[in-house]
Amino acid sequence: MTPIFELRNVTKAFGVGKERVIAVDSVDLTIEQGEIMCLVGESGCGKSTTGRMVAGLLPPTAGQILFKGQDITKMDRESYRAYRRAVQIVHQDPYASLNPTHTVREIITAPLLRHKKVRSRSEAEQRAIELLEIVDLTPAGDFMGKYPHQLSGGQRQRVSVARALTVEPEFIVADEAVSMVDVSIRVSLLNMLSRLKNEFNVTFLFITHDLALAKYFAWEGRISVMYLGRIVEEGPTPRVVTDSRHPYTQALLSAVPEADPELARRKRRMELRSADIPSLLNLPPGCTFHPRCPFFVEGQCDVHVPQLEPIPEGGRVACPVRKSERIELIAL
Ligand SMILES: Nc1ncnc2c1ncn2[C@@H]1O[C@H](COP(=O)(O)OP(=O)(O)O)[C@@H](O)[C@H]1O
Ligand SMILES: [Mg+2]
Repeated sequence: MTPIFELRNVTKAFGVGKERVIAVDSVDLTIEQGEIMCLVGESGCGKSTTGRMVAGLLPPTAGQILFKGQDITKMDRESYRAYRRAVQIVHQDPYASLNPTHTVREIITAPLLRHKKVRSRSEAEQRAIELLEIVDLTPAGDFMGKYPHQLSGGQRQRVSVARALTVEPEFIVADEAVSMVDVSIRVSLLNMLSRLKNEFNVTFLFITHDLALAKYFAWEGRISVMYLGRIVEEGPTPRVVTDSRHPYTQALLSAVPEADPELARRKRRMELRSADIPSLLNLPPGCTFHPRCPFFVEGQCDVHVPQLEPIPEGGRVACPVRKSERIELIAL
């Protein structure tokens, strides 16, 4: 089957004053229909920029983005509109994306009416109730007249998801969608999102800086690990989590706090050579992780830019030095 998205050599540069930063650098990524692709990496590594390009909110500087095999820059008007409707984005901060002067009723019924998903106001009202039930805001009638400030963070995020569902999306970019809600309700939000995947066959690009969340949400999917604009490792989640090969992935895994004290004691924390993340304005040559990497090989890592290469265990790794090395890391 044609992948729902294919990113080919996608680069995004931003002008910052007189200088230029490469926020996303030559990213190749394929997302299959119905899967969960998780993009993981520290703040500033280019995750949101990638998500925004996928959603059509930002044009790439170079490279191609194919939606169901079609280059999004070469679509006719009709296909482009269909693509923009099919791909919805749910942001970290629903406060910023929900109009504070509109009630939940208005927030949900407006796009239903605008996109002619319903024929009348009463049908819109009915559909809005259904959508609120799908995102577990029940009894839905109680929420219709509320304003965003009258809701909790988790409830607001559910309203954003319900609004995204009004256009019957095939693909949702969830950009740190649960990062701002209390830990106690994260799991139920994630479970609600998983249900959308199963019941409505929505494909997800799930963006998070938190590898533990990625593991939970995308165990049956894939993880792509980004570092300074590049994907350094990618593969099925169980492989990436239990048998990671890139030293940066291993560093992220070793930094995940362990709830079980016995496991925490046995877990090896990876010692990096430096804690500083280089600036995009002044990137190190070769592998950009080399100044921090404990496995740094002089003359190789500081000279050659590693390419993603497939490994037999699944996925790809951009580290010729370590890609064949299994290490014992009690992960998560
Ligand atoms: N509109 C913009 N103009 C200039 N720089 C930007 C812009 N958007 C993002 N950046 C820069 O691009 C880099 C990647 O940002 P972003 O994609 O938001 O990272 P992440 O989501 O992983 O935290 C950061 O250094 C950020 O400052
Ligand atoms: Mg971001």
